[in-house]
Amino acid sequence: MTHAWLDGYQQRVDAALDRWLPEARVAPSHLHEAMRYAVLGPGKRVRPALCYATGDALGIPLERLDGPACAVELIHAYSLVHDDLPAMDNDDLRRGRPTCHRQFDEATAILAGDALMALAFRILAHDPAMVEDPATRLEMINLLATACGSRGMVGGQSLDLAAEGKPIERSELEYIHIRKTGALIHTSVMLAALSSETATARQREHLEHMAKQIGLAFQIQDDVLDVTGDTDTLGKTGGRDIERNKATYPGIMGLKPAQELALELHQQALEALAPFGDHARPLRLLCNYLMHRDT
Ligand code: IPE
Ligand code: IPE
Ligand code: MG
Ligand code: MG
Ligand code: MG
Repeated sequence: MTHAWLDGYQQRVDAALDRWLPEARVAPSHLHEAMRYAVLGPGKRVRPALCYATGDALGIPLERLDGPACAVELIHAYSLVHDDLPAMDNDDLRRGRPTCHRQFDEATAILAGDALMALAFRILAHDPAMVEDPATRLEMINLLATACGSRGMVGGQSLDLAAEGKPIERSELEYIHIRKTGALIHTSVMLAALSSETATARQREHLEHMAKQIGLAFQIQDDVLDVTGDTDTLGKTGGRDIERNKATYPGIMGLKPAQELALELHQQALEALAPFGDHARPLRLLCNYLMHRDT
C-alpha cells in the first residue's frame, strides 16, 4: 500500500495465507496451484488490513486476527475468480495477470473458488490462535456465512448480473453494491470487533457504521476507476462496465457526482472513528488510502 503500517498488515496476512494454503506440490497439484495463484497474486489485501486495523483500534493482539484476516481474503479471492468467469463478467486480466480460468481452465477456476471458500470456514473453525470462546467462534462463522451467502455477496452478484443492460434506480443499485461488496468489507471489521473481549456496544456501533460507509464507498470507487483508470495501473481491463452495460454509480448519476458521493461516505466513515482517538490511526490511514487509491 503506501504506509509502512499498512504494508506490515499486507505482509502479515500474506505469510499467514501462505501457511494455510495447501502446497502446490501436494495432490491435487493443479487445483492447489490454481488456489495459490488466485490468492497470492498482487492484490491490495484491503479486507485483511481492515481486520487488523480494527484490531489495533481495540487493542487486540494481531495473532488473534490472522485467522479472520485470512478467511475474508480467501472469500474475496474466490469471489474474484468466479466473478471473472465467462458466465459472469468474462474478464481476462486480474491483478496484472491472466484471470484464473485463463491461466488454468474454467473447471479448475470454479473448483479453486469452491475450495477457497471451504478453507475460509475451516480456518474460522480450527485456528488455535483465534478467540477461544466457542460461542464467539460460532458467531464469527455465522457472520461470514451470512455475508457471503444469498443475502450477502452472492445475492448481490446475482442481482448485478440480472441488472446488466437494464435501467435501474439508485436505491436498487445501492442495494446491490451493499451486498456484492459492502457485506464482506463490513464483516472484515466486525470479525475483529467480535475478537475483542473488552469492546463496548457503543464502540461496535461506531465500527459498524464506519464499515458500512466504507463498504459502499469502495464499490462506488471501483465503478469510478473502471471509467477513469487505465488497464496497466488497475491490473484489470478498464472500461469493462460500459462494454458490458453494467449498472454502476457513474452510469446512473454521472462521474463527478459518483466521486463526490464516495468522498462523502468516506468522510462519514472518518467521523465514526473520532471516539477512538489515536488508537484508530491505522484505520484512518487505511480510509485515506482507500479514498485516494488508483487501483
Ligand atoms: C475488487 O476488489 C472487486 C471488488 C469487490 C470491488 P479489490 O479492489 O479489493 O481487489 P484486489 O484484491 O486489490 O485485487
Ligand atoms: C465484484 O465487482 C464484486 C465481487 C467479486 C463480489 P466487480 O465485478 O465490479 O469487480 P471487478 O471490477 O471485476 O474487480
Ligand atoms: Mg462483477
Ligand atoms: Mg468483475
Ligand atoms: Mg468493477
